[in-house]
Amino acid sequence: MSTIYEEPAVLAEYLLFHYGTAAEILPPEIDWPAGMSAALDFAVRTPGHFSGRAVARGLDLGCAVGRSTYEMSRSCGHVIGIDFSRAFIDSANALREGRPIAYTRRDEGHAATGLIAKRPEDIDPAGTTFLQGDAMALPSDIGSFDRVHAANLICRLSDPVVLLNRLPALVNPDGELVLATPCTWLEGFTAPQNWPPGDTFDWLKIHLCGSFDFVKRTDEPFLIRETARKFQWTRSMLTVWRRR
Ligand SMILES: C[S@@+](CC[C@H](N)C(=O)[O-])C[C@H]1O[C@@H](n2cnc3c(N)ncnc32)[C@H](O)[C@@H]1O
Repeated sequence: MSTIYEEPAVLAEYLLFHYGTAAEILPPEIDWPAGMSAALDFAVRTPGHFSGRAVARGLDLGCAVGRSTYEMSRSCGHVIGIDFSRAFIDSANALREGRPIAYTRRDEGHAATGLIAKRPEDIDPAGTTFLQGDAMALPSDIGSFDRVHAANLICRLSDPVVLLNRLPALVNPDGELVLATPCTWLEGFTAPQNWPPGDTFDWLKIHLCGSFDFVKRTDEPFLIRETARKFQWTRSMLTVWRRR
């Protein structure tokens, strides 16, 4: 399993990605291309693909530092966020407990800017729990959920089919599943024999259509700032499914 998500520099990038303001990510004195601004707030936009109705239980797999878990809790009675990274879950829990996190935004070389990450003030943290865990080996007693969200996770798993096979038991009848993936299959995370044999969407349909109705497919861009001049701009393929 890769340890990249334990690295302090990557933790800082994700705190900025999930909790940074638009001005902290794209300082307004620069005329950024419109596509970069449109890629902000990914962790808010992906849970926005669930229906708006109020439900009881949600699960956010690969939740990182927790922003999408909080966003899901706006209409879920309780949401469990699970991530394999100890550093990410410790940060999500610190924010949950009302402890802001001071972190460094790298600008270039030795130049950096100190920033503070805080959870959204209008969220009740009692509606969330964060756990360190493996999405391919979830506790047998975790139960089932009205909503499951996994953003940019499946192409980071060593054996994603293990999770796909578990999903029918995790999602309640009529429950919703939102999967987003940039389809960036890399040997460092997933052995090539475990990559989809062709198109990722076709492969998802093969594994999910036995238990889920396909609802929709769209693209959601996201922007991860590495330095003042270097960003990851990526298009994630987002699919929504309803459990039969
Ligand atoms: C590309 S990041 C996406 C994080 C977040 N969902 C987002 O969209 O910003 C992948 C996340 O999956 C987590 N992860 C990787 N393997 C995992 C596993 N086996 N179980 C749970 N989380 C895992 C990583 O620690 C990381 O937080």
